[in-house]
Amino acid sequence: MKALVIGVSGQVGSNLKRACEAKGVKVYGADINPARENLYVDIARPDSARSAFEAAEPEIVFLCAAMTHVDGCEKDPALAEKINAGGAEITADCCRRSGSKLVYLSTEYVFDGKKGPYSETDSPNPISVYGQTKLQGERLALALDGALSIRTTVVYGYAPGEKNFLMQLLGAAKSAADSARGQRQASVTHGKMRVPKDQYSNPTFAPELAEFILELALKNKSGIYNVVGSERLDRYSFALKVCEILGLGAGFLEPALTKELGQTAARPLCAGLKTDKLMSELGRVPSGASDSLRIIKELITAQVHGSVVEEV
Ligand SMILES: NC(=O)c1ccc[n+]([C@@H]2O[C@H](COP(=O)([O-])OP(=O)(O)OC[C@H]3O[C@@H](n4cnc5c(N)ncnc54)[C@H](OP(=O)(O)O)[C@@H]3O)[C@@H](O)[C@H]2O)c1
Repeated sequence: MKALVIGVSGQVGSNLKRACEAKGVKVYGADINPARENLYVDIARPDSARSAFEAAEPEIVFLCAAMTHVDGCEKDPALAEKINAGGAEITADCCRRSGSKLVYLSTEYVFDGKKGPYSETDSPNPISVYGQTKLQGERLALALDGALSIRTTVVYGYAPGEKNFLMQLLGAAKSAADSARGQRQASVTHGKMRVPKDQYSNPTFAPELAEFILELALKNKSGIYNVVGSERLDRYSFALKVCEILGLGAGFLEPALTKELGQTAARPLCAGLKTDKLMSELGRVPSGASDSLRIIKELITAQVHGSVVEEV
């Protein structure tokens, strides 16, 4: 079995590559700014996508590349459509030509967040350019026979240098501690990090997400599957849980309403995804945040980087 992970330098792509390697799946990585061992690809350019397919000759393709900056998409909708929808169409076309299975990464942002949590059969109604273009991409991907779309949300993991919510929070905790010691950092205003208390969703542990995606792909599942952590939390409660389990003071956290944060794009508030379909077909679902954060705590303790947390 040969796989191609497109967007391999990103959070989901890097975890998928590791999951493939752990299962003995031969895997190629491709990205627009690739590390030396990976292939170059710009999914918005057909010639570039075809070259990557010719080099990898994949049987399964994981499309993790996307324009993921939600406010950035709102500011440049044409570019968001070119990458998120156009890139999915180009990738699906390459899969059609090469007979590869396509696994598309989708999002709970296809919903408006009025009545979550959502199942796979609920009607999407995106309220941001990111959500709209990801839904376009999902539909273009699913037009290919046998394609699989994975909807997920708030993906996090312990990965120094990355900008997922957990890493932002650890950075802010450290900045707040520095600030308290008189070394004020720009990222934390007056030593505080404002976190929305009205955005509900299911934080999802990246390595576990990757394992579930690979399992669904290897079982040749098709259509839409929700793959998210089993605890549905508002973002502020998730932040408090991180602090509690990782042993950080939470004084730097300040609850806020989304409307007070001045973000460019609208966010689905009462969101989250149901995993009944996953449970009925695989007999298990990803862990909740509490269990995953305990694993992260062990990981940090076992690493030299543990000092990042211990310093705070
Ligand atoms: N992370 C989440 O919480 C979350 C939640 C729901 C859904 N998803 C979906 O899951 C997928 C992966 O997300 P992620 O968090 O891993 O995103 P990410 O960390 O931003 O990674 C995306 C990767 O795609 C690359 N890329 C961007 N434009 C490209 C192009 N035109 N051609 C080739 N590569 C390109 C990026 O490269 P550069 O960084 O160099 O631009 C980056 O390496 C996305 O489809 C996203 O919509 C993520």
